[in-house]
Amino acid sequence: MQSAAITVIGTGYVGLVAGACFADWGHQVICVDHDAGRIAGLNHGRVPIYEPGLDKILARATRSGNLSFSTDTIGAVKSSQAVFIAVGTPPRKSDGEADLSFVHQCASDIATALRPGALVVTKSTVPVGTGDVIERILRQARQDDAIPVVSNPEFLREGSAIGDFCEPDRVVIGTEDEAARAVLRNIYQPIALRGHRILFTRRRSAELIKYASNAFLAAKITFINEMADLCEMADADVGDIALGMGLDRRIGPHFLHAGPGYGGSCFPKDTLALVRTAQEYGVSLRLVEETVQANTARKRRMAQRVRHILDGSVENKRIAILGLTFKADTDDMRDSPSIPLIELLQRSGAVVHAHDPEGMEQARRILPNVTYHDDPYDCARGADAIVFLTDWEALKHLDLARLAAVMRHPVMLDLRRIYDPEEAARQGFVIETVGRSGLEPHPLSTFQPSYLLPDIAAQTRLPIAVTSNLNIQPTKERLA
Ligand code: UGA
Repeated sequence: MQSAAITVIGTGYVGLVAGACFADWGHQVICVDHDAGRIAGLNHGRVPIYEPGLDKILARATRSGNLSFSTDTIGAVKSSQAVFIAVGTPPRKSDGEADLSFVHQCASDIATALRPGALVVTKSTVPVGTGDVIERILRQARQDDAIPVVSNPEFLREGSAIGDFCEPDRVVIGTEDEAARAVLRNIYQPIALRGHRILFTRRRSAELIKYASNAFLAAKITFINEMADLCEMADADVGDIALGMGLDRRIGPHFLHAGPGYGGSCFPKDTLALVRTAQEYGVSLRLVEETVQANTARKRRMAQRVRHILDGSVENKRIAILGLTFKADTDDMRDSPSIPLIELLQRSGAVVHAHDPEGMEQARRILPNVTYHDDPYDCARGADAIVFLTDWEALKHLDLARLAAVMRHPVMLDLRRIYDPEEAARQGFVIETVGRSGLEPHPLSTFQPSYLLPDIAAQTRLPIAVTSNLNIQPTKERLA
């Protein structure tokens, strides 16, 4: 491998992880961002996101002299062989399409600074055809040579980003330019040598592979979530269903964990953007459209489940939420299922207390009217119900007897299937778990989920197309 001079624009999850890992492999990397505070922090060793292992790699790469941080994009680009664009592509509020203004701005900013023979690589998730637009922007600004534009989508997950980047299932490189392929082949050589697959495709195919992968995974999660609904009614266990399905190698065991609905900065945004792209091409992606609808409805419907375990009303009830981030091992709150759940509960009069190992700082900005606790037992103290929303390792080993003892009513809704319901019941809990059997009608329950549904829908910002069965019924444990 020859050491390549690389600029990475954008120090979010993708940019920072890519920059740190490239530098750790021996390339000369400058990570740039227009956020001066962020760059100053990075220059002082402060990591702006919570991502396991990232701090160590950043420190090592910086110490080795391979990695530096700057706000001077033009200066960095001038000396680079490859410029990776890793800026955000958030959903446009008006229509859900990916907002490409940052990407386009980047292209025009760097157009004349790129040295002859350099290439531009998009790592940001961008709709099919974006590479063509970037190429046009560059061509318009430059009179001399054409700069190849390559699509190199990123498949890392928050929380396991370093492992995913360095040990990927595949690296996708989309370009029809032979010289550009050679540069990218050299950059990724360290992992190619370890046997990881480098897949070369046309640029447009690479752009679409990213969206297709995320949409497929989102659909897979939604499928198992709907199976969980069915299991609850049909006296079966979705854990068994996932295991039985996953043993089929054509299906595979991953992303079959039923829960409160997928969240985060990627699946909700990318599924919506893919639907919009397809519409522009006159194609209807019905499966993806249904996935988007079903997941939105599911996230909001979780509030209804809380009402249910509290016999139909949460008014003036104290509810303890354990886990706020959209998944474990991240402090990211973007599109987390906790947001609509808490907002709906509060609108129905609940008093919400919450704890999260890493996400409370971000959560405070989004959900100000919540009482936050550093300790999960303090959070549960005096609560009428406890809801597990994120499967943090630290939340998997709580002393259930102690937890039950500090609550006003030991009622638990386990939306991540963290605890064995029988064990929780033995420790004194009335418990409901996603996708678990054993449901029987509660003779005293006044709860009427189907009547409440329009009420819930009216309170939500997006229209809900609910198709699944909502007649969730109480657990056996509750009757005991
Ligand atoms: C996702 C993809 O997994 C990455 O491959 C992709 O690179 C990334 O989006 C992106 O486009 O940048 P991420 O959003 O970090 O990564 O998180 P995931 O681990 O995929 O989880 C997404 C959501 O699905 C979370 O809310 C999680 O709790 C939920 N999920 C995941 C389930 O409910 N069940 C599962 O079995 C798996």
